[in-house]
Amino acid sequence: MKTLLPDKIDVLFINGHVATMVDNALSIIKKAALAVTGETISWVGKEKSLPQNFKTRCQKIIDCNKGWILPGFVDCHTHLVWAGSRSQEFEMRLNGASYEEISKNGGGILSTVKSTRNASKNDLFILASKRVEALLKQGITSLEIKSGYGLDLETELKILDVIRRLDENFPLHIDATFLGVHALPPEYQHNPDGYIDLVTQAMLPAVKAQGIATAVDVFCETIGFTLPQTKKVFETAKDLGFNIKLHAEQLSNSNGAALASEFNALSCDHLEYLSLSGAKKMAQHNVAAVLLPGAFYFLKETQKPPVDIFRNLKIPMAVSTDLNPGSSPVHSMTLILNMACMLFDMTCEEALLGATINGAKALGLEHSKGSIEAGKDADLVVWDIDTPEDLCYLVGLTPINTIMIKGNIHYTT
Ligand code: NIG
Ligand code: FE
Repeated sequence: MKTLLPDKIDVLFINGHVATMVDNALSIIKKAALAVTGETISWVGKEKSLPQNFKTRCQKIIDCNKGWILPGFVDCHTHLVWAGSRSQEFEMRLNGASYEEISKNGGGILSTVKSTRNASKNDLFILASKRVEALLKQGITSLEIKSGYGLDLETELKILDVIRRLDENFPLHIDATFLGVHALPPEYQHNPDGYIDLVTQAMLPAVKAQGIATAVDVFCETIGFTLPQTKKVFETAKDLGFNIKLHAEQLSNSNGAALASEFNALSCDHLEYLSLSGAKKMAQHNVAAVLLPGAFYFLKETQKPPVDIFRNLKIPMAVSTDLNPGSSPVHSMTLILNMACMLFDMTCEEALLGATINGAKALGLEHSKGSIEAGKDADLVVWDIDTPEDLCYLVGLTPINTIMIKGNIHYTT
């Protein structure tokens, strides 16, 4: 990272503490100062070591009032472009129906597909904007959004175009992932391989041609797609230059993580039923584990992802909201931090690394996002808290003072 002193300083944060998230730890600097030049962090260190003329040279000083500066959260797994509601399915599940049963009876993902196909692009944009707004107010400054509630070329492109519009209209960094292989559409109920052909021959090339997604994800599962079908999609996706991600071992072990690792996936996500051999493959290929405690909680899952194995194999653990209408209608990253600790036995430090630098790794953004270092994007949140651990501990509170994205202030109390 750059060590030269900046010529120009636009914003100087003083009178706060910083959790930088470098070196796989909170890496705290107490009584810190932080300088921003343009879109970038230009200096961070002890306030008493601040070069003499910084305060007089900067355009604006922000007094953190003894609060904490953390990198903006990176929410690396969401499905937030959808129409319709699944609250009636929530009721059904409270009365004993399982997520799989609802899905097999034409509900679940397919019920959202129906409403999303029928929604106009404008309505979808308005619905999704409210969700992005809620996430922004939670301190999320980078976001991944998957398609996958269209399952035909027209609607998948419609969703991806809405994601592009969200990226243009909101200050957050937004990455789009194509998840056309999320469920079997009604038209292909008796011809799953025909659907895979449609995806590989028509959808993926069209998505590539429009340049509206950077990654391809698949739901590899008994109620999703098989390992050979997943492999076929990955082969085409890789040839077209997409990054690879996978919904793997969420409800059962399909050995999806091992397959995705062989394609050098950025991440495998969910992973409750991951085997040791699958985890070893992930470690070998440097694949991040994205843990989604919101879905675990909402589906009343009891099998936990193998956090100890991730620790032993030094696999980076990201955490994310998985914001979606069926298994995780969760709009809060601080709630996810608490769930990661309470449900998955992660430490506060691990959860916070998961929502910042490891979330960035799961998106291939670790060189510009997710930690506080000179040279990285100035995506910062100033929190009115006593310690970083408060973000995992104080349930239902979002004590944000200031949100900065790429050097611009977007929210301040
Ligand atoms: O991440 N597992 C598949 N996809 C989503 C659920 C989507 C839905 O139920 O609408 C998930 O859990
Ligand atoms: Fe998901």
